[in-house]
Amino acid sequence: MPTEQDGPAAEKAFFVTTPIYYVNDVPHIGHAYTTVAGDVLTRWHRQKGERVVYLTGTDEHGEKILAAAAEHGMSPQEWTDHMVESAWKPMLAALDIANDDFIRTTSARHEDRVRDFWIALHEAGQVYKGSYTGSYCVSCEEFKLPSELLEGGLCPVHGRPVREISEDNYFFPLSTYAQRLLEHYETHPEFVQPESARNEVVSFVRGGLQDISMSRSSFDWGVPVPWDPSHVIYVWIDALQNYINAAGWGTDPERFAATWPADVHLVGKDILRFHAVIWPAMLMAAGLGLPRTVFANGWLLVGGEKMSKTKLTGIPPQQITDHFGSDAYRYYFLRELSFGQDGSFSWESMAQRYTSELANDFGNLASRVVAMVVRYRDSVLPDGGDQSVGEEGALASALSAVAVRADKLFCALDFQGALTAVFDFVKQVNGYVTERAPWVLAKAGDDAALDRVLYASAESLRAMAVLLNAVMPRACAKLWASLGAEPALGPLADQRIDSVARWGQLPAEARVTRGEVLFPRLEEPAS
Ligand code: MSP
Repeated sequence: MPTEQDGPAAEKAFFVTTPIYYVNDVPHIGHAYTTVAGDVLTRWHRQKGERVVYLTGTDEHGEKILAAAAEHGMSPQEWTDHMVESAWKPMLAALDIANDDFIRTTSARHEDRVRDFWIALHEAGQVYKGSYTGSYCVSCEEFKLPSELLEGGLCPVHGRPVREISEDNYFFPLSTYAQRLLEHYETHPEFVQPESARNEVVSFVRGGLQDISMSRSSFDWGVPVPWDPSHVIYVWIDALQNYINAAGWGTDPERFAATWPADVHLVGKDILRFHAVIWPAMLMAAGLGLPRTVFANGWLLVGGEKMSKTKLTGIPPQQITDHFGSDAYRYYFLRELSFGQDGSFSWESMAQRYTSELANDFGNLASRVVAMVVRYRDSVLPDGGDQSVGEEGALASALSAVAVRADKLFCALDFQGALTAVFDFVKQVNGYVTERAPWVLAKAGDDAALDRVLYASAESLRAMAVLLNAVMPRACAKLWASLGAEPALGPLADQRIDSVARWGQLPAEARVTRGEVLFPRLEEPAS
C-alpha cells in the first residue's frame, strides 16, 4: 500500500509506440510513415503539457534476420548491430524523430524480461507442448491459414511462396481468450481503430481462435525457452513484449505504473492481429493492463501493391529528405494520405505540395510579413491597437476555432484533417494580407492601419509556428526566431496548444528579422 510518505505517484505518461522494425534490410518510406506519425502525435501532446514517452526500436531475432546475416557473411548479432547503427538510427535522425527510447530485442533489458514473462506463464499453466503443421511465411514470420493464401499458395502480404512446417512446439492457449477479447472490444470501442480495423478484428475472433505456438526448435537465433533451451521463443511473441519491457516491467515498478498501459500502439494493418488479438491475450494471461488503443495505418502502395524492399519498390526516406528536407517530408505524408487508409507516394505530388502549400502559401507569407516589418517599421513590431474588432477580430476568432479543431483532429490521429484545418487558416491570413495591402497603407502614410495589419499578420505567424511545430519543427523554429518571439514568450517547444489562440501574445517592440527562407525554391526536378 502506498503511504503518504511515498509522495504523489508520478503522472501517467502519454505512451506511444511504433512497431519495432525488422533489421534484415534497410528502411523504406513505408516504415518511416508510422514513425513520423508517432513523432507528430507525441510532439503535439508534449505541447499540450503532457509527459510523453515515445518508443521505437528494432526486432532482431527470427529466421529472416538469421538468413540476412548469413547472406552477408556475418553473425546475426554483428549484422543487427551493423544495421541498427548504419541504417535504422540514421533514418530517425534524418526525419527529426524525437523518440524517448529505442529498444532492441537483442538487449539484455529485453531478453531477460522475456524469460521472466514466460517462466511466470509456464508456472501459471499457460504453456503446453504440442505439434503443429502449417504454412509459414518467413517474410511475415507468421503461419498462414489455408483460407488466407493467394492462388498458387502465395503469402497475401508478400506474394511469395510459403513453406510447409511441421514442428513440436510450446503453445500458448490463445483460443481460451476469445470470449474475453470479444468482451473487451465490445466494452472498449476505442481499442482498435479505425472502424474498419476494428470490424476485421472482431470478425476474425468471432470466427474462432487457434492456440498459437510460442517457440521454434529448427534454429536458434532467439531467446532460449527458459525451461527447454532446445527451443527459442517465437520471434513475434518475443517482439510484442518490447512495449512493457521498455516501460520498466519487472525492473522499475514505479516507472512502469507511470507509463503502462500504452495510450497508442501504432501499427501497420498487416500486423494488426498480433497487436489486437495475441498481445492483449498475453497481457491478460500475465494480469497486466491492456493498451488503450491499437491504431492500424494503411499501406504506402507502389503500382497498387504494398511498397517493399523484397519487391524492389522501397524508396529510402533519405532520398526524399535530401531533396525536400525533413519538414516537407513529414508534412507531405501526413497531409497527402488519410492515416487509416492505403495511399501512394509520387514525386510529382510531393513537388506540387511543396511548391504550392509550403513554399508559396506558408513560406512566402512568412517572408512577406517579416520583410514588411523590417522595411516599414525598422524591424520593430508595432503596437497593433485594438485587435478585437473588424478583420483582425475575425482572424482572432478564426484562430480560436482552428486551434480547437486541430487539437481534436491531431488527438484523433486525423493528421490530414488537422493539417487541412491549419492550412485553411494560412490561406485566410494570406487573403487578409493581400486584401489589406500594407504596401498601399504605407504609401498612403496610414500609420495606424499599417500597424494593425502588420501586428495581426505577425501574430498569425506566431500561432502558425506553434500549431505546425509538431509537424515541421525546423521551419517553425526559424520562423519563431525571425519573429523575435523567444525573449518574451520562451522556446517554441514550450508553447502550449491550449493557449495558442490567445491573441496578442507577441509583444509590441519584438525584434523581427529576416531569417533563412523557410522552404527554398526547388532548383531541379526530383527523382
Ligand atoms: N517486426 C515486426 C513488428 C513487430 S512489433 C512488436 C514487423 N516489422 S516490419 O519491419 O516488417 O514492419 C514494421 C512496420 O512497417 C509494420 O507496421 C508494417 O506495416 C510497416 N510497413 C512496412 N511496409 C509498409 C508500407 N509499404 N506501407 C506502410 N507501412 C508498411 O512487422
